[in-house]
Amino acid sequence: MKQSLFNSLFLKACRGERVPRPPVWLMRQAGRYLPQYRAIRAGVDFLTLCKTPELASRVSLQPVDILGVDAAVIFSDILVLLEAMGLHIHFAKDHGPRIEHPLRSVSDIRRLHPPDIAKDLRYVGEAIRLTSDTLRPRNIPVIGFAGAPFTLACYAIEGETSREFNKTKRFMNEDPKNFALLLAKLADGIALHLQGQIEAGASAVQIFDTWGGILSREDYLLFALPALQRAIDGVRRLGAPVILYVNGSTPHLEAMAETGADVLSVDWRLPLSEVRRRVGRKVALQGNLDPTVLYSNPRVIRQRTRAMFADHPGPGLIANLGHGILPDIPVAHAKAFVKAVQTVQM
Ligand code: CP3
Repeated sequence: MKQSLFNSLFLKACRGERVPRPPVWLMRQAGRYLPQYRAIRAGVDFLTLCKTPELASRVSLQPVDILGVDAAVIFSDILVLLEAMGLHIHFAKDHGPRIEHPLRSVSDIRRLHPPDIAKDLRYVGEAIRLTSDTLRPRNIPVIGFAGAPFTLACYAIEGETSREFNKTKRFMNEDPKNFALLLAKLADGIALHLQGQIEAGASAVQIFDTWGGILSREDYLLFALPALQRAIDGVRRLGAPVILYVNGSTPHLEAMAETGADVLSVDWRLPLSEVRRRVGRKVALQGNLDPTVLYSNPRVIRQRTRAMFADHPGPGLIANLGHGILPDIPVAHAKAFVKAVQTVQM
């Protein structure tokens, strides 16, 4: 990695070093709230967009140019790994993802195979290479990502998005041994996927545990935590910071701090000062404006963003939302958030 990129605002903050202001990016920043994204997406379906490196890279660069964020996130999806491990995924119009023949039995779990990254996920690496080549002269890092073992298990077992993921929790309770086996298999796939992204030029990686919040603390410790540790152990030696996002993080903060992640990305439910008290100083924090605050006007957005930092002045702070940006947020409001962070003094 070039020295200047190593010393970029974003990577310094990930390492907990002192910076003049917090870096800022938005989860799901490459997406539907941008007219420029919708224009490209109008001509191509979602998975084809993910699998066409030149287009995926263009979409990843859009928020850097339009919002002026301090990091790019690669345009892809957490479910492409499941495809590379043998499941059939598709994105139906207006329905979100669907998996044909979801996992329901031990023999289904045996069908899952390790991903061949160089072959079946080659397009992710190529998109990262193109994007990081473009951004390196500007010292802007590219973030790679994957789903967490538990969140991927939710989709693999349920076959579609759900509110309660009862089929997943049924499997977990009926057959805990094989559920743990599934999570371990997914963890190994996640480690390979993240390694491939770092080798292709991602300077940091984020693990999305979108559904970790539906687990009791006991089950998070029993199932989700060991699998996360296994995945993170598999990438740490490469030296790129690992960010762990959990939606519904409140009960799980102490466990998240034990995963080996360098940065905890938290939802909006607690003030950052309280999160900091609970996890101590060994991790950086990323967050955590409620994404719906971006529906308010730019004046309120500025106030609420500044209040976030007044409460926790850093170091080791990365500004983001508490979950992904919603598709109907005005671009001007996303810009107001980015601008508000960039004028904070620490
Ligand atoms: O952050 C970014 O800008 C990079 C791209 C990105 C996408 N998905 C593109 C996408 C990232 C980081 C993801 C992660 C992802 N994918 C998660 C975890 C993040 C989170 O919000 O908690 C999850 C749960 C998925 C699975 C997934 N993909 C769902 C449930 C859906 C349908 C719901 C939705 O948001 O539309 C998708 C589709 C998807 N992934 C879209 C995009 C831009 C919309 C596809 C379109 O253009 O029609």
